[in-house]
Amino acid sequence: MGQVTYIEPCGTVHEVNVENGKNLLDAAFDNEIYAMPGVCGGDAACATCHCVVEQEWFDKLDDMSEDEYYMLQSQAEEEVTATSRLACQIKMRDELDGIILMIAAGN
Ligand code: FES
Repeated sequence: MGQVTYIEPCGTVHEVNVENGKNLLDAAFDNEIYAMPGVCGGDAACATCHCVVEQEWFDKLDDMSEDEYYMLQSQAEEEVTATSRLACQIKMRDELDGIILMIAAGN
């Protein structure tokens, strides 16, 4: 279990507790945060869960899969950053307690 902060494009901040093993898209839905549509249901096939992770936390994430990489590359160039990830591909674990996700505006 750890705390996750979601920052919506409009600036609304949500701080929620997430159990280990849950992906951060499902955790958002569980907490009625709907700024990421999550159209593909978490299969790394739509990028509507695109978020930007603060560097401190980005460095602690598992490497991204090829599917995640290519899905992010398909996004508008001006929206993707060096610390972009797909929330559905991030699973909560103890080391991520305190992670901050900025939800991308283009979702
Ligand atoms: S929900 Fe589709 S890529 Fe994350």
